[in-house]
Amino acid sequence: MYKILTLNNISPRGLDRFGHEHYEVASEISQPDAVMVRSFNMHQMEIPASLKAVGRAGAGVNNIPLEAMTERGVAVFNAPGANANAVKELVLAGMLLAARNICQAWDYTRNLTGDDATLHKQVEAGKKQFSGFELPGRTLGVVGLGAIGVQVANAARALGMNVIGFDPHITVRAAWLLDAGVQQALSVDDLIARCDMVTFHVPLNDHTRHLLNRERLHSMRDGAVVLNFAREGIVDEAAVLEALEAGKLRSYVCDFPSNNLMGKAGVIALPHLGASTQEAEENCAVMVADQLREYLEHGNVRNS
Ligand code: MLT
Repeated sequence: MYKILTLNNISPRGLDRFGHEHYEVASEISQPDAVMVRSFNMHQMEIPASLKAVGRAGAGVNNIPLEAMTERGVAVFNAPGANANAVKELVLAGMLLAARNICQAWDYTRNLTGDDATLHKQVEAGKKQFSGFELPGRTLGVVGLGAIGVQVANAARALGMNVIGFDPHITVRAAWLLDAGVQQALSVDDLIARCDMVTFHVPLNDHTRHLLNRERLHSMRDGAVVLNFAREGIVDEAAVLEALEAGKLRSYVCDFPSNNLMGKAGVIALPHLGASTQEAEENCAVMVADQLREYLEHGNVRNS
């Protein structure tokens, strides 16, 4: 009997992959063979000596102490690509929220009161105040062309945008899936200077921390939009705030509510919703459960 400890709510479709005959799956269990986790911070927990494998039902592995796992010979699996469509859809929503001033306009409209004539006047004023811009012909920069970056780039092409991508580690598969119309930039600096909107789809590590820094923000086009649905530390938030206040940036759309940014003009922040769809949660849980089974039962490592 293998014991699986779940550290977050994991989609039942994933947990169903473990047959009752050979697996015990619970949120409290002693001496687990494996852990299934979403965002629970495993850096803060004592690693059970019995642990053989960790399955992260998502793409990023920042919440897992990888070095400690490697030292103990614990295999770590994740679900690259399983939530890419969900993230792509939210990035597209973010682009449209920023381009059409939708959040500000909704804030305005929800507070309107008065008779028909007054409302009419307020609607006319709102139309002027929240006039936006359209996406076709605008240039989107995509930093990181993994599963999510490729989907975002291709969707933006389908919307008529010019798209410039950059990824020094692009895989053959990603290059093959990428729309032929996506240009490749020579460097992050080259990309950032040429875009109306920039979106980041890279993991957070020593090379990507503050990838968007003050100097790069200065080099952006005036009125640019920055989207960060990857990890908070990839963008220097203090520099973003300065750029928003100076009118250099039109909008910063991110998937993390940080204390520095909340309530600031031009900031649209979401509560890490990128992968929060029923489909993505199921896909990630199923992918990771299958990998854990394959490893525990047969010793095979299959990370996709
Ligand atoms: C991921 O790493 O896959 C995303 O951050 C989504 C999540 O796990 O909630």
